[in-house]
Amino acid sequence: MEDNTASRGTSGPPERAGGLPAVPPSLTADELPDGLVVADDVGRVVVFNRAAGRLTNTAAEEAIGKFVSDVLPFRDDDGRDWWVFVDPYHGLATRTRHPERSLYLTDGTELLVSVGYVRDGRNGPVRRLVISLRGAQQRARLERSRAELVSTVAHELRSPLTSVKGFTATLLAKWHRFTDDQKVVMLETVNADADRVTRLITELLDVSRIESGRMEVHRQLVDIPDRARKLIAGRVAAGEPEDRFRLEAAPDLPDTWLDADKIDQILGNLVENAVRHGAGIVTVVVERARIGGDQAEAVAVAVRDQGEGIPPEVAPRVFRQFWRGKRRGGTGLGLYIVKGLVEALGGDITVGRAPGGGAEFRFTLPAGAPVA
Ligand SMILES: Nc1ncnc2c1ncn2[C@@H]1O[C@H](COP(=O)(O)OP(=O)(O)O)[C@@H](O)[C@H]1O
Ligand SMILES: [Mg+2]
Repeated sequence: MEDNTASRGTSGPPERAGGLPAVPPSLTADELPDGLVVADDVGRVVVFNRAAGRLTNTAAEEAIGKFVSDVLPFRDDDGRDWWVFVDPYHGLATRTRHPERSLYLTDGTELLVSVGYVRDGRNGPVRRLVISLRGAQQRARLERSRAELVSTVAHELRSPLTSVKGFTATLLAKWHRFTDDQKVVMLETVNADADRVTRLITELLDVSRIESGRMEVHRQLVDIPDRARKLIAGRVAAGEPEDRFRLEAAPDLPDTWLDADKIDQILGNLVENAVRHGAGIVTVVVERARIGGDQAEAVAVAVRDQGEGIPPEVAPRVFRQFWRGKRRGGTGLGLYIVKGLVEALGGDITVGRAPGGGAEFRFTLPAGAPVA
């Protein structure tokens, strides 16, 4: 990363032979949210930014000029002296960096530390050691949110299983004491709870695909109004009144290269929510739109109902994992998955108020042939 043209300038910071500035501008370093410590070719601290001071409880004036191994007395998980163990200045000459890892100061403070080497040419002697420090709270926060997720999932799985176990145990123990009608009711509950567990697991797998970016999109020409029509027909065939649904599709829609299964899943979730959480007539509107900074051609789909709608103050939260309103029954993963699917298709989704009251979920997807 040496920039030889800069070394010819006259107004830049003082320089040593080789073209590297002796002291990087400290104003910028102090603005970094992470701790930054730079040691010179013999291991003396030349940069110690404000965040480093905060993380190590050491004033910059105290640190500058001292040996970095004294200022940052790192120990590893096993209590070994990291400086002796790694020996950055005399150890392997091929090293260019140490990826981030946890190290501890003598008072037990945990820091996430990554180290970069600046060498004189390839495999040459160490010219500078650049150390970045981050507080461990960030990781602790991540672990906490993961623990919360595990506990929510465990709870979601346990309640239906408790009911399955309760009803099957009761039926096995007292089979002859129940009438056929009572048995049917119990078995229906067991059946519904088993479906619930399956649905939750399917949704969790979708969530994990979204989070790891493994959502695969199989592009094909998709007729969105046709998908909506089939979805509504399916619900009507399953017993819902036909006049509960309305479909308004613009006649001049551009071609959309999307993934039919994903469109079905998005529409299915939004219509299901409109029926379950909303009220009145559920309207699906498909129209032309524009998307992105370049105002590219797009198709927008709105799913509206005539229920209470979603109060604007909770609107930013509805797309979060496990968020759900008063009415129980769902997992609170539906809209999170819908958003993930829409984004995987290159679109975006918003929630607002429908023209006649109620909730309106509106997503926009790019039209035209897929880009690469
Ligand atoms: N059409 C709607 N009208 C009113 N509230 C809705 C609507 N759609 C979703 N919501 C609210 O958003 C929450 C999250 O929805 P979702 O992620 O699909 O979870 P779930 O349907 O499993 O509860 C719902 O629990 C509900 O409170
Ligand atoms: Mg839902």
